[in-house]
Amino acid sequence: MDNNQNDLPHLGLLAEYETPEALMAAAEKVRDGGYKRWDTHTPFPVHGIDEAMGIKNTILPWIVLGAGAAGTVTALVLQYWTNAVAYPFLISGKPLFSWVPAFPVTFELTVLFAGVTTLFAMLGLNRLPRLHNPLFNVKRFARATQDRFFLAIDSQDPLFNDSSAKALLAGTGASAVEEVPDDNSATTPPMWMLQAFVAFAFLTFIPIGIIVGSWKSTSDKPAWHFVWDMDFQESYRTGEQVPLFENGMAMRAPVEGTIATGELFASSSYFRGVLDDETLDKAQADRSASEYVEFAPIAATRPTLERGQERFAIYCAPCHGDSGYGDGIVAERATSLIATGGANGWVPPTNVTTPVIASQPDGQLFDSITNGIRNMPGYGKQISVDDRWAIVLYLRALQRGANATIDDVPQSERGGL
Ligand code: HEC
Repeated sequence: MDNNQNDLPHLGLLAEYETPEALMAAAEKVRDGGYKRWDTHTPFPVHGIDEAMGIKNTILPWIVLGAGAAGTVTALVLQYWTNAVAYPFLISGKPLFSWVPAFPVTFELTVLFAGVTTLFAMLGLNRLPRLHNPLFNVKRFARATQDRFFLAIDSQDPLFNDSSAKALLAGTGASAVEEVPDDNSATTPPMWMLQAFVAFAFLTFIPIGIIVGSWKSTSDKPAWHFVWDMDFQESYRTGEQVPLFENGMAMRAPVEGTIATGELFASSSYFRGVLDDETLDKAQADRSASEYVEFAPIAATRPTLERGQERFAIYCAPCHGDSGYGDGIVAERATSLIATGGANGWVPPTNVTTPVIASQPDGQLFDSITNGIRNMPGYGKQISVDDRWAIVLYLRALQRGANATIDDVPQSERGGL
């Protein structure tokens, strides 16, 4: 190091002591001497050494406090901005921004910012990581981890003066005072370290390359197949030949009397809306109007109709409208899209109160709800059997209301119309 301000041939002075008490007394003297760049090294923590050295409290807590506050502000601004400004989305009339749901994110970011800052600020304040220290070039310094106590003054200290510092240390009862030799052997890392680093940096691109490559891949096979389990096994497909069985067929006939999942209908009229007829060919019965049951197999009580009304409002009204005229909100939206050239191929929901629909048997309405009809999806998976029948009965009420005549109004009420 030739930029040494005092043009000294060494980096500082190292004094050795035999006891912690001696070191402590020496530290107090160096402190009172006004030195700033110096340190002590001991094999175990020595209580009171920080006071003896005049070390002030660390500013780390203030840095962490600032980082935590920054985390809090970031979280709140981020949530306020995304929820209430950039993408305001009204959910069930709730406020766009509120403190309560913002809490978890705010807490997390506060802790995250503070935690990460604690680590890095600590490393920075301690000037870590430090892989080499010139003190390691002094042989006796190895005993700093065993049974000796050291005090080192850096020659960069503004007060440093070779002879006066030496005199000061000699007067502290040091068992030895030694110069710390200059060395720059450790300023560049060894070649093999650089080579390993380059090789490692190169290797990290391989996984990234594989991932990018798999984006472009059109193969339907998994890119990586680590766990094979039973993915590749000798199995036969339906209709294949297999020598194992006498008749050579891989597919076995179902055991007599077994019923496939979802095929168990104790009553066709109740579950499917078609007549209970053992002799009826099932395939033909499914969609033939003449075989639909005329009347729903459940009673049209007030609670049932109210249930039907409620279910209709949930499952049907969005398309068919509250009164069944086919003017639900979905239909309205589609109509407005059509006006601007959108919603191609849109089929409007049927007005379910017209005589055409009103003349259908209950079983047919039930079947339309269960399996869907042309462009309308089926709701059998979502709505229970009882509820589907309740909706059918409510449909009847809607049809009755839409086609009412003055004769349907009680005599006493007619005056009010
Ligand atoms: C996603 C919108 C939508 C929902 C929800 C919906 N429907 Fe439909 N519905 C339609 C459309 C569209 C048609 C006309 C289908 C066609 O003609 O291709 C239709 C037709 C019908 C028909 C006439 C069937 C026929 O024989 O012509 C009935 C009855 C019906 N829906 C009842 C219901 C009931 C009851 C519900 C509630 C369980 C319901 N729909 C839910 C869109 C819907």
